[in-house]
Amino acid sequence: MVRKATITIDGKTVELPILEGSFGPAAIDVRSLYQETGMFCYDPGFMSTASCSSGITYIDGDKGVLLYRGYPVDELVEKCDFLDVAYLLFYGELPNAQEKEEFEKSVTQHTMVHEQLRSFFQGFRRDAHPMAIMVGVVGALSAFYHDNLDIYDPKQRETAFHRIIAKMPTIAAMAYNYSRGCPLPYPQNDLTYAQNFLKMMFGLPSEKYQINPIVAKAMDIIFILHADHEQNASTSTVRLAGSSKANPFACIASGIAALWGPAHGGANEAVLKMLEQIGSVENIPAFINRAKDKKDTFRLMGFGHRVYKNYDPRARIMRKACHDVLDQLGIQDPLLDIALKLEEIALKDQYFIDNKLYPNVDFYSGLVFRALNIPTSMFTVIFSVARTVGWIAHWNEMMADPGQKIGRPRQLYTGSVLRHL
Ligand code: CMC
Repeated sequence: MVRKATITIDGKTVELPILEGSFGPAAIDVRSLYQETGMFCYDPGFMSTASCSSGITYIDGDKGVLLYRGYPVDELVEKCDFLDVAYLLFYGELPNAQEKEEFEKSVTQHTMVHEQLRSFFQGFRRDAHPMAIMVGVVGALSAFYHDNLDIYDPKQRETAFHRIIAKMPTIAAMAYNYSRGCPLPYPQNDLTYAQNFLKMMFGLPSEKYQINPIVAKAMDIIFILHADHEQNASTSTVRLAGSSKANPFACIASGIAALWGPAHGGANEAVLKMLEQIGSVENIPAFINRAKDKKDTFRLMGFGHRVYKNYDPRARIMRKACHDVLDQLGIQDPLLDIALKLEEIALKDQYFIDNKLYPNVDFYSGLVFRALNIPTSMFTVIFSVARTVGWIAHWNEMMADPGQKIGRPRQLYTGSVLRHL
């Protein structure tokens, strides 16, 4: 039996169907509300709005659960590599041995970028933020793959997926090397996804680059943990841009722009800046007080989440990875001591308890990046490399839906009423 919600407005009662998902909260289908009542739903920030239905990623924010296509993210981190996870998110199932081999082969065939794309970099100042370069250069990919791209053809969407996930590490490493005045790198296709990225980031033509397996493993974990997170701000941006049937590479560029902000992917960079600003364990209480002061704009970066009202499962894995990497590489980072103490104090503080504010994925990822010698300005870039998998999987899911409509929210108008000159 279909459950129904009833709403009464000015004496008129309207019945709205309730849609049941496979897991988690149901949703009231309000699509006929305006037609029936002449009123809209008001939900800025989408606090109670399911903008679409999706079968890719599931989050239970109260329990701190994150599933990719039904699999817990910690099991995937333990048993799979990033390309397995990319395959899973896009196609819905993990690859068997032959599928994995073919997928890897196809992705590695697309790792190079068009030589003309390389000249785009010269247009940027050397000190440009690499996220600014990413927005521009990934957007420019649309100029290379537009006229012959039929977005209604599943096979061509699949090629776009292979192409973009193959090129993202190359473009990211080029952005970094441009900023430090080094030659723009080329990929090396006999390496794994994570190894190839590290080689392009740090390798120089003049010397042999030795890949540290601890560093490559940590990078792979970072990629898996950031691969998708259901309808977050950047994924919703990609869906909205894609809903107008725009070029997918331009849509990914819009996702990169949305990810850049410190409330979203830019938080990992902000966490490190905050830990440096705190400087030592004695200063923590003063910063906690600032975070609680409503007159102060300061927030504890890497804390809080729209969906997680419990420990972010990614933060738990990242915390462990952080300890492992520092131990294995023999690094003592004073910022880790500050982070651990900050977490301990915040988790006992009534304000953080009442607001259900726990560490999110960004709280420890910056410290792992630091241990891997990744410069702060590249943190969000690496997040964007990983999240491209989620963006394109969501774009593909949306494009495959025959009932898909252009995303076009309405508004509660508060401006001037009709007036004349
Ligand atoms: N420090 C201090 N107070 C906070 C924090 C924080 N980090 N986060 C939320 N609050 C307070 C906030 O002031 C509000 O209090 P009140 O109701 O009294 O005004 C209450 O908690 C609810 O916060 P909100 O801003 O209404 O919640 P939201 O769901 O709109 O925002 C958030 C979620 C992630 C933007 C926010 O928690 C935040 O700004 N955190 C710091 C930035 C950060 O770490 N972002 C990374 C998110 S995870 C990775 C990703 O998604 O990219």
